[in-house]
Amino acid sequence: MGMDRLDWCSQPAQPLRGSVRVPGDKSVSHRALMLAAIAEGDSRIRGFLEGGDTLATAAVLAQLGVRIEAPSAGERLVHGVGLHGLRGSPQPLDCGNAGTGMRLLAGLLAGQAFDSTLMGDASLSKRPMRRVTDPLASMGARIDTRDGLPPLHVHGGQSLRGIRYALPVASAQVKSALLLAGLYAAGETDILEPHPTRDYTERMLAAFGWPIEFEPGRARLQGGHVLRATDVEVPADFSSAAFFLVAASIVPGSALKLPAVGLNPRRTGLLQALRLMGADITIENQRESGGEPVGDLAVRYAPLHGIELPEAWVPDMIDEFPALFIAAAVASGSTVVRGAAELRVKESDRIATMAAGLRTLGAAIEETPDGAIIQGGKLGAGSVDSHLDHRIAMSFAVAGLVAGGPVRINDCSHVATSFPGFVELANGCGFALQALA
Ligand code: S3P
Repeated sequence: MGMDRLDWCSQPAQPLRGSVRVPGDKSVSHRALMLAAIAEGDSRIRGFLEGGDTLATAAVLAQLGVRIEAPSAGERLVHGVGLHGLRGSPQPLDCGNAGTGMRLLAGLLAGQAFDSTLMGDASLSKRPMRRVTDPLASMGARIDTRDGLPPLHVHGGQSLRGIRYALPVASAQVKSALLLAGLYAAGETDILEPHPTRDYTERMLAAFGWPIEFEPGRARLQGGHVLRATDVEVPADFSSAAFFLVAASIVPGSALKLPAVGLNPRRTGLLQALRLMGADITIENQRESGGEPVGDLAVRYAPLHGIELPEAWVPDMIDEFPALFIAAAVASGSTVVRGAAELRVKESDRIATMAAGLRTLGAAIEETPDGAIIQGGKLGAGSVDSHLDHRIAMSFAVAGLVAGGPVRINDCSHVATSFPGFVELANGCGFALQALA
């Protein structure tokens, strides 16, 4: 994405106070753009995440002939072209850092009449794609990879047929890619999950008028219907709120409010985990917005203790482990994480990158193939590497609040993929976070 290198320095700070409005949900923003693009008519998206990942998806759709207007920040007006209205592009389609963008688009493009090439940045180019290209191939798609890695060359003009597929790993991205391909397939696409994952694609397909049956762990649809434009209200991203939930929980005297955060149960595993550790987090004003549960979160400092994290909670907090590891590193006693091998194939190998950074700050952490054992204690000053992973960078910014001295985080430019404006929002509630160009 051509971002300049940017280091951060995070220092021990005063208690965190005030209200923090975090940006729109990344998963919902990606899906809203894609479904609106292939719907009949104009859809307005409000609360859209103006982040690198979702801007990359918008640019790809524009390259495929979809007119997308931005009347104001956080708002998009998408002029849908209908299920068969996308136009091929001779240029590669750049998904930037976004695994969600690439995997969902692979499903969407598998059913088109034209060829496409999907590419990404250095981090995305190392992420496994067979999990999506293999089942798409059994639907009749033809997609070439570089030994299972991007770029993906998607051959157009294939006739797809629905399949019944039991996912080997719980992945909302794979499920969603197959459902999107299923829109173009003959017959039924029936997806079974080993553990329920976020169901935004299912809910949003229903909102756009496509008949779909779904329940936790299963989704079924038939090809041959139409999507009708609708307006989408994107809730604030729980995964972005997560950094503030941990920060206020560990800095004595803190009390923060996080308004209008999406509380889909497939996303809120960290809430349960932090509460089990002793955190003081309450949900106020719980309501429905755009078909999603939403609430205002209120978090106050509370002494945390280590836990054995129930394995069943892992998929519901898959993006929150970097933040959880910081909470665990300053809690009393040890925390054990198991059944989280998927962390090794995220924007970085999050078990390895968190372990390396925490060790640099003096924490005792033992890596296992599918998790870690983290001994709680005190953190010291030091210089850690973000490994170009947005969530690693923000997690160590939180660590700096309670470390014995400044924590320097190398190369935080990727934070803008999911959380533009993080530094300003964080400093607004009491962080002492300095961007060093
Ligand atoms: C996402 C699903 C998750 C998550 C990612 C976003 C989505 O990935 O880690 O940040 O929007 O569907 P997997 O489905 O691969 O676990």
